[in-house]
Amino acid sequence: MNKIIWKLFSAFVFLTLIVVFVLYFFVSLKLQNNFELKISEELQSNAILVGDILTGDLLENKNEDIQRKIKTLAEKLDLRITVVDMRGEVLGDSEKAPSLMENHKDRFEIIEAVEEGFGQSTRFSDTLNYNMKYVAVRVDDSGNTLGVVRFALPLSEVQLRIQLIYRVVLLGAIVAVVIALTVAYFLSRSITFPISRMQEVARRISKGDFSEKVNIKSKDELGELAKSLNIMAAELQQKMENLKQMDRVRTDFVANVSHELKTPLTLIKGYIETLEDRAINDTVKARKFISIIKEHANRLENIIEDLLSLSELELSKDCLSKTEFDMKKLIDEVTLGFGYALDAKRQTLSVNHQGDDFRIKADSDKIEQVIVNLIDNAIKYTNEAGQINILLLERQNEITFTVQDDGVGIPGEDISRVFERFYRVDKARSRKLGGTGLGLGIAKHIVLAHNGQISIDSEINKGTKVVVRLPKS
Ligand SMILES: Nc1ncnc2c1ncn2[C@@H]1O[C@H](COP(=O)(O)OP(=O)(O)OP(=O)(O)O)[C@@H](O)[C@H]1O
Ligand SMILES: [Mg+2]
Repeated sequence: MNKIIWKLFSAFVFLTLIVVFVLYFFVSLKLQNNFELKISEELQSNAILVGDILTGDLLENKNEDIQRKIKTLAEKLDLRITVVDMRGEVLGDSEKAPSLMENHKDRFEIIEAVEEGFGQSTRFSDTLNYNMKYVAVRVDDSGNTLGVVRFALPLSEVQLRIQLIYRVVLLGAIVAVVIALTVAYFLSRSITFPISRMQEVARRISKGDFSEKVNIKSKDELGELAKSLNIMAAELQQKMENLKQMDRVRTDFVANVSHELKTPLTLIKGYIETLEDRAINDTVKARKFISIIKEHANRLENIIEDLLSLSELELSKDCLSKTEFDMKKLIDEVTLGFGYALDAKRQTLSVNHQGDDFRIKADSDKIEQVIVNLIDNAIKYTNEAGQINILLLERQNEITFTVQDDGVGIPGEDISRVFERFYRVDKARSRKLGGTGLGLGIAKHIVLAHNGQISIDSEINKGTKVVVRLPKS
């Protein structure tokens, strides 16, 4: 299988086996050495003890006593005991009659024992026909050497005991391998589980399903990765929603543009056809129709101009041509232009200001467009005899102007949408008043292009307040 868990797991298995094998090798070796040493030491101290027991008999040359004693001792110790004198003559042996045995002075362990007090060797025994381990000690009495006591143990017995050790170590190794592999399995799983979980979530995300989150709380890299994945999913989801929203606005926009352009065009066509049919001969009627056609053509032109300036503003901020001018002067000029409209509805407009320096560096034509639309809206959406207030404020780095009316107001649910292009609260009414719903959209874009802010606050049947904040430069 190609899964990470199996890759990790087999790496662990491989490592564990190597470690256990090496450990097994060295531990066994060390144990075997120790064990052999211990056997030698044990045999040596026992031989010394036997030498002590026999000292008296050796001194007095009581060979029968020696023979008798070593037989019982050998039986108790479960090994073969041989006693030789300084010349190598066998004085006693626990398994054979001494008289039948050859001289032992050339035996390696005996030579060593005579010279150094202790000797040992491992070799094939001619007498017994198998490999033996020999340990010999010299028996001394007040400076004189009396003889040598030699123990002999079949090597197979030693090896048997060593094999037992090997077996115990092997069992330990197997237990270690099993434990190591269990731990390795769970460790591999704890690493691969979060990965496969994240893989699953990522797969869902790629299909546009953001409902699942990765729930991994560990504080390691995997936890961090999970966190990032969740953040990424949330951001993606947000972006997708924004895109959907933008798409909706665009679709609405296309539908709206088509509709807004089609209505005047249909009317224009209708009047032209009527003119063609008969009205052209009726001069009075013809003039009336032509002026209506002109009015709609103007409207078409206005809409197209508005759309163009909107898209121009959207494309870049560079389309602004900034100059320094006085906001107060500009507002006074604009309000002057609305005199007729205000009189027609018997409305009053007041301009108040706080501060004395209203100079600002901005695109005066565009700012004028904003002011015109805000005052135009205030007049349009306020009943006869209404009151409109304009307040101009000078702040440290910015100039604020507020257009407030006591008109029809905007319902709460529409407030957030009035800046969308073509959005009108009451379509029929605002169209009758000549509105297309582009004014606030354009105003917002102009203000944003100047790094300013625009906000609207309204209460139905009480009035509306629009605040524009523009940086001085
Ligand atoms: N002062 C106001 N009082 C009440 N409603 C308002 C006011 N200003 C704007 N609105 C509402 O917000 C809508 C959008 O305003 P906007 O200026 O964008 O469009 P418009 O005035 O209808 O048309 P245009 O400005 O393009 O001629 C208006 O149709 C109106 O419903
Ligand atoms: Mg308007």
